[in-house]
Amino acid sequence: MDPGTTSTEGKPTAAPAFGVYVHWPFCLSKCPYCDFNSHVRHAAIDEARYVRAFAAELAATAARVPGRTVSTIFFGGGTPSLMQPATVGAILDAVAKHWSVAPDVEVTLEANPTSVEATRFRGYRAAGVNRVSLGVQALDDAALKALGRLHSAQEALDAVAIARTAFERYSFDLIYARPGQTPQAWAAELKRAIAEAAEHLSLYQLTIEADTPFAALRAAGKLAIPGEEGARALYDTTQEVCSAAGLPAYEISNHARPGAECRHNLVYWRGHEYAGIGPGAHGRLDVAGARRATATERRPEAWLMRVEALGHGLVTDEALSHVEIADEFLLMGLRLAEGIEPARYERLAGRPLDARRIAILRDEGAVETTPDGRLRVTQAGFPVLDAVVADLAA
Ligand SMILES: C[S@@+](CC[C@H](N)C(=O)[O-])C[C@H]1O[C@@H](n2cnc3c(N)ncnc32)[C@H](O)[C@@H]1O
Ligand code: SF4
Repeated sequence: MDPGTTSTEGKPTAAPAFGVYVHWPFCLSKCPYCDFNSHVRHAAIDEARYVRAFAAELAATAARVPGRTVSTIFFGGGTPSLMQPATVGAILDAVAKHWSVAPDVEVTLEANPTSVEATRFRGYRAAGVNRVSLGVQALDDAALKALGRLHSAQEALDAVAIARTAFERYSFDLIYARPGQTPQAWAAELKRAIAEAAEHLSLYQLTIEADTPFAALRAAGKLAIPGEEGARALYDTTQEVCSAAGLPAYEISNHARPGAECRHNLVYWRGHEYAGIGPGAHGRLDVAGARRATATERRPEAWLMRVEALGHGLVTDEALSHVEIADEFLLMGLRLAEGIEPARYERLAGRPLDARRIAILRDEGAVETTPDGRLRVTQAGFPVLDAVVADLAA
């Protein structure tokens, strides 16, 4: 496969990046905008049973892709901060049982910023987590209420303060382009957030996902979000405020000080290999010279039973064609400010990118070529990224 980490002489420069994604599918309540694979359960979750299933799925995956060195691990959700620290520790032990773990491994856990969850932060640190990503979403109580969040702005800031003392690295998420939000109000909120952030922020434009309560409200005319122009102004504000504060976008929604990027997410965007473990997790594995797309059963209890019966929860496991691999590389890589290496696209696709289409996009100011030959989307091109990718894809 194409690990993307070979030197010009073709010698490996380092162990290729290999990520492990672990999905914890439970939340205390379902936020009205969210379409992640998250479920609310009123009965207690049998964490020991889940640990056994995670360990079994890790063993089955490692048997297919042995000998890897794990560079990043990411506990996503749902709400992983509802897990007991011992559960997180047991899953990390299972990862280390089957693969080597890089000495500088990045281990991130997504947390909801409530006071109850913050009490577990030290336990996660002791279990091996070294980075936390907090879903703050807004620093305004009325906005948090409208988003259906269970925490206040102050409670979220208190959780950020605890994260700062417990972990080497932390990040938090905010959602913008909320109903009625003006660029002025967003700039002020963002500046307050930056004062609390250390090295990384994820700033997502509110998306109305199909089949969510927000989609129904919007269809009923009861939820007015900024239109295309308004959203564009908020996006521009985001770029200006963050760049001025030394947190430029390294990906369309992610901002970091140089060197503080989330290495796990870079695994996806740079087209490296990763294992997806747990209900509804996706993976990309290189098996016998082919890149395979994997996905597991989404429903938590059905996933558990599947793993208990078969040793894994896979419902999709298919080899991708060259065209699919190349298009995915384009789709993911062009989200990054660093862009892509056209030669790598050519190796994957078996043909170069269309020079004529690149020239048109360049004339329109949507893409540019860097002095070292990389192709990247410009600041003006990012708001229309989907159209740029569609133009360049096979
Ligand atoms: C898996 S979720 C959240 C982790 C955690 N459960 C939480 O809510 O804090 C990751 C992030 O996606 C973002 N997100 C989820 N749904 C979104 C939507 N419809 N529009 C924009 N951002 C969204 C939120 O910022 C959220 O923190
Ligand atoms: S946004 Fe987070 S807490 Fe809310 S339902 Fe989605 S995963 Fe759960």
